[in-house]
Amino acid sequence: MIPKSEFSLQQSCADLFKKQFRELPSIIVRSPGRINIIGEHTDYNEGFVLPAAINRYAYIAVCKRDDDAIHLYAVEYKALLVFKLNELGQKKSEWTDYIIGIVDQLKQAGSALSGFNLLLDSDLPIGAGMSSSAAVECATIFALNHLFALNHSKIEMVKMAQKSEHNFTGVQCGIMDMFASMFGLKNQVIRLDCRSLDYDYMPFQIGEKQLLLLNTNVKHSLANSAYNERRQQCEQGVAWVKEKYPAVNSLRDITIDMLQLIVEPKDPLIFKRCKYVVQENNRLLMACEALQNGNLEKVGKLMYETHDQLSKLYEVSCKQLDFLVTEVKKYPAVLGARMMGGGFGGCTINLVLTESIPALIQMLKPAYKKATGLDLSVYAVGIANGTELLID
Ligand code: GLA
Repeated sequence: MIPKSEFSLQQSCADLFKKQFRELPSIIVRSPGRINIIGEHTDYNEGFVLPAAINRYAYIAVCKRDDDAIHLYAVEYKALLVFKLNELGQKKSEWTDYIIGIVDQLKQAGSALSGFNLLLDSDLPIGAGMSSSAAVECATIFALNHLFALNHSKIEMVKMAQKSEHNFTGVQCGIMDMFASMFGLKNQVIRLDCRSLDYDYMPFQIGEKQLLLLNTNVKHSLANSAYNERRQQCEQGVAWVKEKYPAVNSLRDITIDMLQLIVEPKDPLIFKRCKYVVQENNRLLMACEALQNGNLEKVGKLMYETHDQLSKLYEVSCKQLDFLVTEVKKYPAVLGARMMGGGFGGCTINLVLTESIPALIQMLKPAYKKATGLDLSVYAVGIANGTELLID
């Protein structure tokens, strides 16, 4: 059951839908954003990740139309955009890409669709590294799957959402964001093997502690191209190792020794990238063990280590993210912190003693403003269920 306090956005979605389209939606679906405890930039390298869905969501309300038109309305932008099912067109670099990309995937899968009205609302900050785009994609595909009785399984929908991101928005992302949004479970983190897609849930029992996201409010315009570049660098490293060890398929099969022998002499930069990924997979396995043993100090220490290496070896951090991690490290109440997601901006994830949060924020906000000229946004997040149908 969804707690009463979370009904407000659902209700306002229904009201706004009625106002916009002069009828009530047939269904409303919501899909959450995600956090990732550890295991960054490992998903597209067939490694492990440890994400969870959070209690902030994209909401999609839909109903069928009698024609082949697609009417999309986003509450945030107060704009109605109209598409034709048979002429979806190309990427527009707008919010509609996330929805049209999904429609495109469903069409390619041979799904029988007709026109529909759709309203999007969200309480997920955009570009903060909480995967608002995956939340929109998952909510959209889940809603259309239900509305048109398409019978796609959850994992099929996750894969289509990932492909839509590749094809329509041009980011060669891994599977983590959509998987976490779709498969999240309250108070559990997901240990996902991105090679086999086997996963299990691990209880996230943190007692008197809280996950705190600190948003730098930095959005890097080069983030997408740098992300794709990192992916290519990892692939290049694998290709070189494969020449000598044909059984190798990804960085998952590669040791530091192999990298030192083959990749380092060829290209020190590619060596650094690959080394980070191989070590990050090991860190994740250690963090899972620590979590199972209730050793949150160890989990925190590994988070700090991940940040350090993301900054120095993988080079996907930025000065604002580094500032936040360095600052909180001075406080014993913060067990661990690191940048989260693709990087170059967005937020840090922090494991903090709950009682110390107000004092920490009071200190951080002015310090961050002074150092960067930017405002700091703070989100205390809980771990929630994945994509779900709210009204049917
Ligand atoms: C982005 C991508 C994910 C993943 C992370 C880094 O969020 O969408 O697939 O690669 O970056 O871990």
